[in-house]
Amino acid sequence: MEKVLLFCDPGIDDSVAIMYALLHPDIELVGIVTGYGNVDQEQATNNAAYLLSLAGREDIPIYAGARFPLSGEVAVFYPEIHGENGLGPIQPPDEIKGDLLNFTDLFDVIEQYEGELTIVDVGRLTSLAMAFILGGEVMEKVKQIVIMGGSFLNPGNVTPLSEANFYGDPIAANLVMARGERVTLVPLNVTNYAIVTDRMITDVTQEEFNSFTALIEPVYSYYADAYAVLVPEIEGAPFHDVVALMTLVEPDMFDYVEKPVSVSADPATRGQSIADFRPSAEWEEETPFVRVAMDFVYDRFAKNFVETMKLG
Ligand code: BDR
Ligand code: CA
Repeated sequence: MEKVLLFCDPGIDDSVAIMYALLHPDIELVGIVTGYGNVDQEQATNNAAYLLSLAGREDIPIYAGARFPLSGEVAVFYPEIHGENGLGPIQPPDEIKGDLLNFTDLFDVIEQYEGELTIVDVGRLTSLAMAFILGGEVMEKVKQIVIMGGSFLNPGNVTPLSEANFYGDPIAANLVMARGERVTLVPLNVTNYAIVTDRMITDVTQEEFNSFTALIEPVYSYYADAYAVLVPEIEGAPFHDVVALMTLVEPDMFDYVEKPVSVSADPATRGQSIADFRPSAEWEEETPFVRVAMDFVYDRFAKNFVETMKLG
């Protein structure tokens, strides 16, 4: 059983990742940190609280994450992909029903589960960077960190070079790559191909399997319609964030390389993820290595997704 503290910005694919984490028998969701990204931080918190309430899991704490990038810039949101409220056509209640805890309280969870806690971050990396800035040695007690972000030797999704989570706060992303230990990165090289299709959605909604079933079709349709405009050649839509969780429950679904990674904060190449893929590459001894998922077995992804979303 993997104990997971999930940093996210729900957002449609983040919301499905929350559902997946709550449904999967090998994952114990011990907390959620909500930050700006697909929507603003307050809306992300409402959405997370709404999903927890649907599951009857209001006992899971929500920690208030970042409201804007470390640079102090104004945060940019993506209503055209995720809807005004982050759940496509679904209007979650305005009121936050969960307990919203202070950011620094998350250090207590890390202490509580010393050596056992996995941080999964599927949003802008500002809040996780703050955890390194404020947490100091506490962060050494984290078992591992899994991040959805970046794109290697490959186009981005918000600029020709950059993926949204890295682009949104490249200073934070670079800080996490430099400070993090035992980090796994799941970039667009994999997640762009983690396509959920109409047929999979029909399968997971053919009966009311769980308290999320009624939400799945409307949020999927909204998201797939947005992707039909962005990437007309695909049928369905990539569910980026859930793939990060799959590295915990089916790690051998993926092929990895291990390399130091940095993220550009230069305006011309902002958010670009950089790793040296030359066969002759050499690094300083102290340079932290990141495990980067570069490929996966699509059929295993599809099976795992469908089976999990049908659990009661
Ligand atoms: C990432 O950006 C966000 O919009 C998605 O939720 C995902 O985390 C994909 O680039
Ligand atoms: Ca996300």
